[in-house]
Amino acid sequence: MLAVAVWAGISFSAAAQSVQHLTITQPGGMPGLPVMTGISRLTNGVQLSWAGPSGYYQIFQKSNNLTAAWLALGKATNLNCTATITKLYSTAFFRVSGPSPSYIGSQACIECHNNICRYETNTAHAFAFSNPEFKNAGGQNNSSCLPCHTVGYGLPTGFVSATATPKLAGVQCENCHGPAANHAANPNDFTVVPRVDIAATVCGGCHSASHTTYSNAPTYEEWSSSGHAAVVPDVLQSMSSSTNNIRTCGVCHSGSARLAMIGGKNPAVTLTKDYNVPITCAVCHDPHQTNSFSDQLRNPTSSTNAFRLTSADTATVTAFTNKYNANANINLCAQCHNDRGAAWTDTSRAPHHSVQYNFLLGAIGELPSGSATFNPGTHAGLPSSANYSISGKFYLTNQCANCHMQADSSDADNHSFAVTSDTICYNCHITPPELLEEFYLTPAINNAVTTLITAMNRWAATKAPAALRTNGVVAWEYTTPGGLTWTTNAAGNVTSWSLEKPVNFTGPNTAGQALIPDQVKRARFNLYLVLNDGSFGIHNPTFAINLLSAAEVWMVQVLQ
Ligand code: HEC
Ligand code: HEC
Ligand code: HEC
Ligand code: HEC
Ligand code: HEC
Ligand code: HEC
Ligand code: HEC
Ligand code: HEC
Ligand code: HEC
Repeated sequence: MLAVAVWAGISFSAAAQSVQHLTITQPGGMPGLPVMTGISRLTNGVQLSWAGPSGYYQIFQKSNNLTAAWLALGKATNLNCTATITKLYSTAFFRVSGPSPSYIGSQACIECHNNICRYETNTAHAFAFSNPEFKNAGGQNNSSCLPCHTVGYGLPTGFVSATATPKLAGVQCENCHGPAANHAANPNDFTVVPRVDIAATVCGGCHSASHTTYSNAPTYEEWSSSGHAAVVPDVLQSMSSSTNNIRTCGVCHSGSARLAMIGGKNPAVTLTKDYNVPITCAVCHDPHQTNSFSDQLRNPTSSTNAFRLTSADTATVTAFTNKYNANANINLCAQCHNDRGAAWTDTSRAPHHSVQYNFLLGAIGELPSGSATFNPGTHAGLPSSANYSISGKFYLTNQCANCHMQADSSDADNHSFAVTSDTICYNCHITPPELLEEFYLTPAINNAVTTLITAMNRWAATKAPAALRTNGVVAWEYTTPGGLTWTTNAAGNVTSWSLEKPVNFTGPNTAGQALIPDQVKRARFNLYLVLNDGSFGIHNPTFAINLLSAAEVWMVQVLQ
């Protein structure tokens, strides 16, 4: 089976990657035939890459002289789906020849992989062909539907019809892992072990709007537009500078690191180049559905327990797996969007940007009565919340997903994870939501934040210990400042503020932090909690105001 690429002397940027992930989307999932996916210039030649099932590949080259013969570059020994070619014509054609697909169906896997098959064969995937809706829509005999609802349709040994190839109906193992008959026959042959790839492209060829006449959910496209589709650049930097960060930051920021840890492997050791995989479909969805959560999710969409992943929990893989297994019933989003164990006594940095779950439950922050433990507002969607049910209806029982994954026009859950619609707000509010947000941001949160920074600056200028009043140091800040900047008028009152980084000052060092009164430490903690939650208070409106009010009272005390 062949795939062809043309090298026309154009210069591409070199992007040599040591781990191969599927870079294209195809209806059907993992390609059964090789497909050229890239050709790029290296200093000493070109790099070819292709996608295809596991097995040996051979590369051929010919010059642009159309009568020239194909020249084999080495033997059929390539297992990597990528090759570097150094002998180059100025213009050249390449082709790759590889294994012919050989599909067999999931019943051939049971003998050895029953721990997976016994769950996987009960998923919606397995019934994608027999599903009455699919049948009634005429899908079973419509060639435009079959690539995504069967195994290997249109390929050698793939699905033909319900009568000729009944074992290849529905979405099965080989849609995601590639053809596996050779592996089932020779499980010890390492050259044909099926591919395991957590890239979103494996799912994206089917879960896409772009490949079909049938109106399908644009799940892959929505996901691609979200923050989950790329690892934050700062974190990539942190992980490349210290392998331990692949575990301690990667557990929430890198899909490959997180799945390795859930599987009991230390990604700081096993993934040295592969931590740049973002939060892909398989990070949230269990492709084999080994639990009973809806939509093949790894965790449910709501929970009421306080949960946080502290640095002790990520210190070792065992600590993490113990914590994870004991908290499998915690809201999926909360597995990463939690406060990481932040406390007002921390002095090196502000609470992380991930505090949303604890904020929603009102379980992080300092109140006059002490540390907050459980103060959910209505938006937490809990039975204990006031006005949990409006006119007998329950609107926020899926917590984060209710607002951030509202059904889109194709009636599927929106995977951009943005609050794209106001519909959910109108269930309970009469005020138009954009007014709610603006109204809220402007007088309530914005004024409180402005007053608070003014008070903290006044403390820094008039009351802070002399040792903290140094040029280039903001006395009330964390050692690494949290990122707030502001402008002031002649009277020293804050006129505007933002969270634009970088800031051009530092906070007191460790020794200096010990000189800051507890009231100021509590106040700055509450301030950054409200800001880093990112919802301008909407996750828990009353609670947000209470945190800022408590901070103001403490600042009044230290200014006296
Ligand atoms: C006769 C036993 C046997 C059968 C049948 C079998 N497998 Fe396997 N499979 C294995 C063994 C053993 C390994 C581990 C091979 C290795 O790691 O080198 C494996 C590995 C795999 C892997 C890769 C796992 C990893 O962690 O990299 C996948 C995917 C897989 N099999 C899928 C299938 C599918 C799909 C079928 C059915 C079409 C199948 N297997 C049938 C024995 C079998
Ligand atoms: C070969 C095409 C194909 C591939 C590849 C594929 N899916 Fe699907 N998926 C489908 C079809 C078709 C359905 C609808 C089945 C039905 O309801 O009859 C579906 C349904 C689902 C559902 C709904 C489950 C439910 O309980 O209603 C989820 C979740 C899902 N897929 C996730 C994934 C993920 C995650 C991946 C990649 C790891 C993936 N899919 C790969 C075709 C595919
Ligand atoms: C590009 C791949 C693709 C093609 C082509 C495709 N489907 Fe699907 N189909 C899917 C996926 C993926 C889902 C699951 C969507 C989801 O749950 O978000 C699905 C779901 C469905 C469902 C709903 C099943 C359920 O229980 O919710 C029906 C019915 C369906 N498809 C019929 C068809 C028909 C009829 C055709 C041809 C006209 C077709 N599909 C072509 C990928 C495809
Ligand atoms: C919807 C896509 C999809 C389907 C269908 C699917 N897998 Fe997987 N499989 C994956 C992904 C993604 C991973 C890696 C993530 C993980 O381990 O959860 C994986 C991991 C594996 C592994 C290695 C790790 C492990 O869990 O042991 C094996 C073996 C495997 N699959 C076999 C199978 C077999 C056998 C079937 C069919 C009965 C199957 N898979 C069906 C996507 C799929
Ligand atoms: C595996 C960890 C993880 C899980 C699970 C997770 N997130 Fe995220 N999320 C992140 C990370 C990391 C970012 C930061 C990405 C960035 O800043 O670019 C993020 C960013 C976001 C953003 C910011 C907006 C954007 O697109 O940049 C929203 C909103 C969001 N997530 C909502 C959710 C919701 C809702 C869920 C549950 C359905 C969820 N997340 C599950 C890790 C996760
Ligand atoms: C408990 C999970 C978790 C851990 C552990 C974690 N993060 Fe995050 N981080 C998140 C989430 C979730 C977001 C996105 C929040 C949002 O978009 O509002 C985020 C956002 C970020 C951002 C973007 C903030 C911005 O300016 O938008 C940076 C940078 C970051 N994290 C760095 C790190 C580093 C470095 C580590 C390791 C030392 C780390 N994170 C560990 C969950 C985590
Ligand atoms: C950050 C976590 C997260 C990621 C990443 C994610 N999903 Fe989902 N997905 C969810 C949640 C949560 C739901 C259920 C939402 C609800 O119940 O309101 C869901 C629902 C679904 C459904 C069933 C409902 C529907 O939309 O028809 C499908 C299919 C699906 N996801 C496929 C995918 C695919 C394909 C990808 C990758 C392109 C993906 N998901 C990535 C969290 C995630
Ligand atoms: C009542 C609806 C609602 C609920 C429930 C909700 N959110 Fe939000 N969220 C919002 C709104 C509104 C915003 C601010 C406006 C925006 O960014 O679209 C926001 C902002 C965010 C942001 C910052 C977005 C950014 O671009 O930086 C993140 C991250 C986030 N929410 C995650 C979550 C998580 C995780 C949960 C569950 C623990 C959750 N939200 C529950 C409505 C909600
Ligand atoms: C289940 C009903 C429900 C839904 C859905 C809902 N809210 Fe609320 N919201 C309330 C209730 C009740 C309060 C007052 C109690 C509290 O603080 O929890 C409130 C308070 C507020 C406040 C504080 C100001 C005020 O009027 O009290 C804002 C702002 C707000 N909601 C915005 C939103 C936005 C934006 C959405 C949609 C993304 C939304 N809400 C969805 C019930 C809801």
